[in-house]
Amino acid sequence: MSRPEVEAPTVVRANANRSKTFSGMNFPLAGYALEDTSRIVTPALLIYPDAVAGNIRTTLAIVKNDPERWRPHIKTAKLGAVVGQMVEQGIDNFKCATTLELLTACRAGAADVLLALAVSGGNARRVAKLAEEFPDTRVSVLVESAAQTEVWRGTRVGVFIDVNSGMNRTGISEARTGDVIKLARDLGAAFRGLHWYDGHISSPSPAEREKQAHEGYGRLLTIVHAVEAAGIPVAEVITSGTPSAASGVSYPGFTGAKFQHRVSPGTVVYNDFTSLRQLEAFDYRPAALVLATVISQPLERQITCDAGHKSVSADAGVPTCIVMGHAEYQPLKPSEEHLPIEIPPGAKVPAIGDKLYLIPRHVCPTVNNFDEALMVRGGRVAGVERVTARGHEHPLVLAG
Ligand SMILES: Cc1ncc(COP(=O)(O)O)c(C=O)c1O
Repeated sequence: MSRPEVEAPTVVRANANRSKTFSGMNFPLAGYALEDTSRIVTPALLIYPDAVAGNIRTTLAIVKNDPERWRPHIKTAKLGAVVGQMVEQGIDNFKCATTLELLTACRAGAADVLLALAVSGGNARRVAKLAEEFPDTRVSVLVESAAQTEVWRGTRVGVFIDVNSGMNRTGISEARTGDVIKLARDLGAAFRGLHWYDGHISSPSPAEREKQAHEGYGRLLTIVHAVEAAGIPVAEVITSGTPSAASGVSYPGFTGAKFQHRVSPGTVVYNDFTSLRQLEAFDYRPAALVLATVISQPLERQITCDAGHKSVSADAGVPTCIVMGHAEYQPLKPSEEHLPIEIPPGAKVPAIGDKLYLIPRHVCPTVNNFDEALMVRGGRVAGVERVTARGHEHPLVLAG
């Protein structure tokens, strides 16, 4: 599918302050601008529920309209209201990374949530407690070693074995198939399946991403078959974030398999300019923006707005964002609450007090920078929602 409202990417001139390889994309402001911003304190997180709904539909189309095939990671969505919207659109299975995200998903009515981390100590106790408190939600975790399995014995918590996909962040080495089988056997009824997150596959070329992802899925399938050959049923195999989700669906070995295969993209719910560029072939739209105010004009062709890296995350590098409707503007290196922007010759320099709508480069930590989100519909603020899963739970939550 093509995205008609998106113009062809424009190549942006590089200088010492910004990534030399950055090329911008132009997203028109039409349909996103607020009619009245005079009573809004900036920087403000704007979420567009209609765009969220469209992004959910686009992802469902990628998984061939089978919601069972998608286990979205809610580290991006973060708002109980948006997780609830996903539940309403037929998604039951979720993934998360913190106990606060787990709580948010349980409260939103998720049927099945995987905390995609191997937790121990207080964190494990908290997960077991939440699993007790929400008996209608099937709660699971990851393990990668025998030492991590004992804590789950006698609990309601299911367990997936995390296999290192080559990302080298977590997981048991893919070469240790014998240990995977032993772990699965020791887990008994708690064993739910295998987890393979290939977040390192991020080539801008969809064909290259598919090639790399499919090579990995072939190696994963060999492990799955070995576990099955040992007489242990594998109920579920989870792969793929945003860049490789379509490759997970197109991998022939996952179609018609005995196990349920699920992909787990989460960024796609809001998108950022990284995902929009990677997924140009699909009908995705930005659904989370930061509204900023121009606060200074320190140079003839440079302005500064109030969206520093304490609002628009800088973890993915500079530029931290693009300005909606102004692909020609050049966001420079931010400080905590300041974002300088170079305005190229020929472009109108915005006035102090003007509003800018920023599409983040990395939306997940950007959402996490805000306590509240303004829900925008038809050019108006239709509501305010808490960013429920922002940050982490109280460290003494177990103390009562
Ligand atoms: C384990 C795991 N699964 C799924 C995802 C979702 O991937 P994406 O952000 O590309 O949508 C992430 C992202 O960090 C992750 O860590």
